[in-house]
Amino acid sequence: MSIKPFTTAIVGLSMLALAASGKAQERDARQLVKMPPMVQTHMLSIMRSHLKSLNAILDTLSRGDVDAAADVAERQLGLSSMSLHGGSHLAQFMPEGMKAIGLQLHKAASRFVIVAKNAELAPDRQALHETYAALKEITDACIACHDAYRLR
Ligand code: HEC
Repeated sequence: MSIKPFTTAIVGLSMLALAASGKAQERDARQLVKMPPMVQTHMLSIMRSHLKSLNAILDTLSRGDVDAAADVAERQLGLSSMSLHGGSHLAQFMPEGMKAIGLQLHKAASRFVIVAKNAELAPDRQALHETYAALKEITDACIACHDAYRLR
């Protein structure tokens, strides 16, 4: 008996196992949040502008302009930006947990503003680290919500 059919069977079985584990990973554990189509379109456009805001913050930081980074954060992501985005209108369609993460995002952005402004006053290595740590708290909120909820 040649070893070939045996090897082929083993390879075939491993591929089946791989395919099965791939399927398991594809299962989407995020909670579906139903919104009226227009609200959903609005929410997704805010999301794309959030990504642009992050990009603008990274851009200003890369040029060493911490003050400008703070400005972008406050105007576009901070607590005061919530009315600009129609935050309370959107919030009525969100489950409590999602609302809480949304608030966490805006609070993190406002905290970033304070840390960045302090870094502008005392620009040393430590301040730079703290600025990036505060920025990561913003992206932590993006990730927390994306891991838990979906709109479609
Ligand atoms: C409170 C919840 C929440 C927070 C906070 C949040 N997102 Fe989202 N975001 C969502 C949901 C829900 C979707 C839709 C995902 C889906 O249906 O697959 C989404 C989609 C997106 C999309 C895709 C938009 C499109 O047109 O398809 C981008 C880009 C995005 N988010 C960026 C961000 C960034 C950057 C942040 C942080 C600065 C962020 N989001 C924070 C909930 C959130």
